[in-house]
Amino acid sequence: MCFPAFVPLGLLPLTSPLKRILSLVSGSILGTTRLRLRRKFIEYLRILDDAIARSGLHTTRLDTTGTAVPDRVHVFAPLLQPDFSSPDKKNLKMQVVRSLARLTRPILTFQRTKATISNEDHKLRQFIIYDHVERIYTDLKELGYRDNDPLKLADLITLDQWHYNGTEPVDAAIKLLGIREGARVLDVGSGIGGPSRYLAHKAKCHVTASELLPDNHRVGKDLTSRCGMTGSVKHMCGDITTTKLGKEEFDHVVSFQAVYYVEDKLRLFRHLSNSLKPGGTIYFEEFCRLKDIKNSEEQAALDFFLLCLNTLPTHRDYKTMLEKAGFDVTVQDISDSYREFTHQRWKKWVEQRDRSVRLYGEDMVNSWLKLYVTARNLCNEFGLMGGGRFVARKA
Ligand SMILES: C[S@@+](CC[C@H](N)C(=O)[O-])C[C@H]1O[C@@H](n2cnc3c(N)ncnc32)[C@H](O)[C@@H]1O
Repeated sequence: MCFPAFVPLGLLPLTSPLKRILSLVSGSILGTTRLRLRRKFIEYLRILDDAIARSGLHTTRLDTTGTAVPDRVHVFAPLLQPDFSSPDKKNLKMQVVRSLARLTRPILTFQRTKATISNEDHKLRQFIIYDHVERIYTDLKELGYRDNDPLKLADLITLDQWHYNGTEPVDAAIKLLGIREGARVLDVGSGIGGPSRYLAHKAKCHVTASELLPDNHRVGKDLTSRCGMTGSVKHMCGDITTTKLGKEEFDHVVSFQAVYYVEDKLRLFRHLSNSLKPGGTIYFEEFCRLKDIKNSEEQAALDFFLLCLNTLPTHRDYKTMLEKAGFDVTVQDISDSYREFTHQRWKKWVEQRDRSVRLYGEDMVNSWLKLYVTARNLCNEFGLMGGGRFVARKA
């Protein structure tokens, strides 16, 4: 599941063609007039620009969709104009040399690599994603349940929805897809089964809850059984992209903040299309990139949030992929609700920190807070990430 992303490398030594141009510049400007100096400066600027463009090194835009991105991206300093009206000719020559030298040296280089985030951060995310699964049992105890007690779905749904905005997106899926009693629905990336159980209960349909991680799958199965819902929710463990699905097995597919984990999304959509009946529909809700990344701070936040993935598609990217897979698509931008949700969640966790530390331990709470503040920054301060609601019909 790990794919290369960009990591800043810092200052690089001069590359050799640029180095040659610089020594040529420094040698030839000595002993020349101010007017010739200015002409030479402009001429060498052009040569340098040309050399940089031809070397294929220079790019100002970092494309995070993962397509057509060079392995290394060099960012160059902006032009520093020498002061040609300065009476001090010696100083002016120094300024010209410095200015040209600056332009030959990348100030920042991004390298595609697996290790975009530090090992510590990487472990932290593993911790958050994989090891907080047992928390549901602590939460259930807080509500007065003992081990193995039967569970009321009304209590569980306040705790088991791992996506944003509780059961609202599941209600939206039922309405927008027109999910009816008896329908067969696949839930992709079902976590501990929260959306699957709510959906099966609300729409009286049959749900197959597909989850990659064995721990999530195990807890999901246990909760479903304790809710007495094994007849309507079937749990399946494995990577959805390689799981064998019956041809035209499902009426609908739903997914809540899970598709972004899948690297080859086009392949996933084709796979899902194959498992849908003719005219079958998909609803999924996902994080979307709203703009290009501007600086290393934004890049670092996104890398941390995405763990080891290097792609966060835009709304348009998702639409294009779904259309390529043969779907008619409608898209709704729900970024406002993501801004509000991430802000409120962070605020609530800061306010209730002491209680949370008592229940879950300091390490766990710190790691969640780090994730929550990063998500808040990405959606609010940076305006880099938002949400999309996608409804697609198999054409
Ligand atoms: C953010 S959680 C959301 C869980 C659930 N949809 C919910 O809203 O409560 C995303 C889930 O997708 C699962 N997942 C990621 N990649 C997957 C894959 N290739 N196949 C199946 N599940 C996957 C993860 O293990 C995780 O449990």
